[in-house]
Amino acid sequence: MLVLGIETSCDETAAAIVDSEGEICANLVLSQLADHAPYGGVVPEIAARSHINHLDGLVRRALAEADVDFAALDGVAATAGPGLIGGVMVGLMTAKAIAAVHGLAFAAVNHLEAHALSARLVEPVPFPYLLLLISGGHCQLLIVEGVDHYRRLGTTLDDALGEAFDKAARCLGLGYPGGPALERVALNGTAGSYPLPRPMLGRPGCDFSFSGLKTALARQVDSFGHEPDTTEIADLAAAFQETVAVVLEDRLRNAAAHFRGSGDTLVVAGGVAANRYLRTRLGEVAKTFGLHLVAPPAALCTDNGAMVAWAGIERLRMGLADDLASPARARWPLDDAAPAVLGAGVKA
Ligand code: KG4
Ligand code: ZN
Repeated sequence: MLVLGIETSCDETAAAIVDSEGEICANLVLSQLADHAPYGGVVPEIAARSHINHLDGLVRRALAEADVDFAALDGVAATAGPGLIGGVMVGLMTAKAIAAVHGLAFAAVNHLEAHALSARLVEPVPFPYLLLLISGGHCQLLIVEGVDHYRRLGTTLDDALGEAFDKAARCLGLGYPGGPALERVALNGTAGSYPLPRPMLGRPGCDFSFSGLKTALARQVDSFGHEPDTTEIADLAAAFQETVAVVLEDRLRNAAAHFRGSGDTLVVAGGVAANRYLRTRLGEVAKTFGLHLVAPPAALCTDNGAMVAWAGIERLRMGLADDLASPARARWPLDDAAPAVLGAGVKA
């Protein structure tokens, strides 16, 4: 099965072609970073307009790179939510049009499911597995019981983790998106220089909270009374990252204890899973619970079309094709049974 995957839910226009053996024949991502940088964050209207300008050409380039035409495809999958609705509509309508014209199977993919299943594109991770989904719009611990079957153990009560990284980076003058920049400068810092609060530490359950951490960082910067210098920035970045690691470890321990005996894999996915320091720390916790850590390569952690194509393959081969009347959804939690918590299912 050969599937075209389209991703337009945030600020990356992406198209990929993947086969059911997990071979990525093309995986193109066009970042809109330069368009949004002057505003310090993603501007939804600019994102939607940019997707409409670039998606058609990107799909053609993906086909050319994979050396196939539309007739060689079996299906087309697009992110149908959650996300910025204007952008989601651009990708969804493009995918529907391609499916209609070429008579292809169509899959309306949940962006979170695409992140959740991305590990199975890399290796044949068996269900069920424990999933830590950490991205720009989400921070959740889930049990992935199977395609379309998710049980949420916890979520953030306020900011998503990527959002916290971006806000912290902004406060340190590191630009947008802040995650990768903050990780880089933290390498030169001493985490112990600035003790920061550790939200939710020691509490039962698997929920997260990051807004207090960001505020504490901002206060620390204000207390200097001057622009932080290179050493101060590095130390604060290291302190922030270390605190995040400690909190994630604590929440993960509760989730792993709950999951014990159910499966043997921890998957970490989403843009923040590209962070090497956090991957190492989470891997150590996983080991103590006898869990094998699978974290996709960085290019499959941040938003991309290959994970959408793969989720489409997983769904289509289970007979879960969607019809062309499928809606675009700004909000679309993976686990409908979980109580609605502020921040859940809403992608920034
Ligand atoms: O999954 P993603 O590409 O988009 C969403 O679905 O939200 O995640 C983007 C987020 C951004 O907040 C970015 O700062 C963060 O992932 N990120 C990182 C790293 N690389 C990307 N955060 C920390 N360390 C990184 N290396
Ligand atoms: Zn994402």
